[in-house]
Amino acid sequence: MKIAMLGSGFIGRFYADSIQGQRSRDKIVSIYSRREESAKKFAEDYGVAHYTTNMEESIAHPDVEMVCISLPNHKHEEAVMLCCKHKKAVICTKPLGRNAAEALRMLKAVEQAGIFHGYLEDLVYTPKSSKAIESVRNGALGRILWAKSRETHPGPHSDWFWDLEQAGGGAILDLGCHCVEIARCYIGKDILPVEVMCWADTQVKPIDAEDHAIALVKYENGAIGQFEVSWTFRGGMDLRDEVMGTEGTIWINNFLRTGFEMFTTGKGTNYVAEKAESSSGWLFPVGDEVNDLGYNHMFTDMFSSYEQGRAPRETFYDGYVVNAILDAAYASAKSKLWEPVKLEVWRGKTGVHKDSHLESYDAEHYLVKEELTHYGAKKVILKNKTTGKIVERVLE
Ligand SMILES: NC(=O)c1ccc[n+]([C@@H]2O[C@H](COP(=O)([O-])OP(=O)(O)OC[C@H]3O[C@@H](n4cnc5c(N)ncnc54)[C@H](O)[C@@H]3O)[C@@H](O)[C@H]2O)c1
Repeated sequence: MKIAMLGSGFIGRFYADSIQGQRSRDKIVSIYSRREESAKKFAEDYGVAHYTTNMEESIAHPDVEMVCISLPNHKHEEAVMLCCKHKKAVICTKPLGRNAAEALRMLKAVEQAGIFHGYLEDLVYTPKSSKAIESVRNGALGRILWAKSRETHPGPHSDWFWDLEQAGGGAILDLGCHCVEIARCYIGKDILPVEVMCWADTQVKPIDAEDHAIALVKYENGAIGQFEVSWTFRGGMDLRDEVMGTEGTIWINNFLRTGFEMFTTGKGTNYVAEKAESSSGWLFPVGDEVNDLGYNHMFTDMFSSYEQGRAPRETFYDGYVVNAILDAAYASAKSKLWEPVKLEVWRGKTGVHKDSHLESYDAEHYLVKEELTHYGAKKVILKNKTTGKIVERVLE
C-alpha cells in the first residue's frame, strides 16, 4: 500500500512505526503536517518521498492509494471530505467525530463517494482482544451479560486534547470511544445499544471537559456494557477488560501487570511505555507496544481488506455508532437520567429480546445452582415451577 499520513504527531508516528515495521512492503509516500519542519523531520525519519504543509496536496498526490488521518479530532471531517473529493481510500483514527452528527456526515460522504473506509480502533485488534473476541464468538462464555472496559491514564500529551472545542469532549470521548467499541465487540456489534447512564466530573484538571467518568450502556438483549475512563489516574496507562457470560469469564490486562515486571534504580533507563510515569523503581514495561496495542493487526486488516475488496472489521459505521453512544453518555451526565442512544442509521438487529433466565432441572423445577461442598456433599438449589418455592436437595 502507498499511504499518505496526515499528521506527524504522537499517533502518526506510532502508526508509521507499525506500517513500516517488520520489513513491511507498505510505505508512507506522502506526509502532511502543519509545520514544514515537522513534515520534513517525519519524512527524514521514515524515508518519505513527499512532504507538504498542504493537506489537499498530500491527499491528491498521484502515488497515494490510501489516506491515514492522524490529526486532532476537529480536523477529521475536513480531511475525510477531501478524501471523498479525490476518491481516495481513507482510514481515520479514533474518535471518528466529535459527536454523532459529525460522524454521520463522514459516514454518508464516504459511502456516497464509494471509497474504502476504515475506523482505526486499535484496541479491538490487540492479540489478547482478538483471541478473546474469537472465543466469545465461538460460545466459550455462553450468553454475554456484562462487558467492562477501563482506560485510565494521567492525561493526554498535546494542548488541543484539553480544549473542549477542538477535542469535542474530555475523557469520555478520548478514552470512552475505545471502551465502548471493545464492549460492542463482546456483546455483539449487531445488538442495539439502547440507553446510557453516566457519571462524569472534572475532579482534578483545570479544564472545561470531564477528566473522569463511569457509565453503563444498556443493550437491547439485556447485556450491559460498562466503561471507566480517566485523565487523572496515576501510575501509567491502565487498559483492562472484563467479560462475564453465562458459561465463562475473561479478564484482560493489555498494559500494566502484563507479566513483565522490572526493577531499576533509574540508571540507564529512559522510555518505558506509553504514559509511564516513572523510569525507576518497579516498572511495568510493555514488550512490543506497536504489536501489543493492536496496530500491526489493525493495519493488516485494513490493507488486506482494501486489496480484497471487502470491508475491514472496523468501518466508519462503527465509529458513528460509538459516537452516538458517547453522545448519550454526555446527555446522561448532564441530566443524571438514563438517556436514549439516538441512531439515525442502524444496520444491526432489532426486536431482540432478553433470553430467558429459566433453566429446567426436571419437570417440576428450575435450577438455581449446584455445588460440591467442602464436606463432600453435592447440593442443588431448585425453584418449584408452580409454587415458586426455593428448596435444596443433597444428592448422593
Ligand atoms: N490509540 C489511538 O488510537 C490513539 C492514540 C492517540 C491519539 N489518537 C488520535 O489521533 C489523533 C491525533 O492525536 P495525536 O495524539 O497524534 O496528537 P498530536 O498533537 O501528537 O499530533 C497531531 C498532529 O496534527 C497536527 N495538528 C495539530 N493541530 C492541527 C490543526 N489545527 N491543523 C492541522 N494539523 C494540526 C500536529 O501538528 C500533529 O502533527 C486524535 O484524533 C487522537 O484522538 C489515537
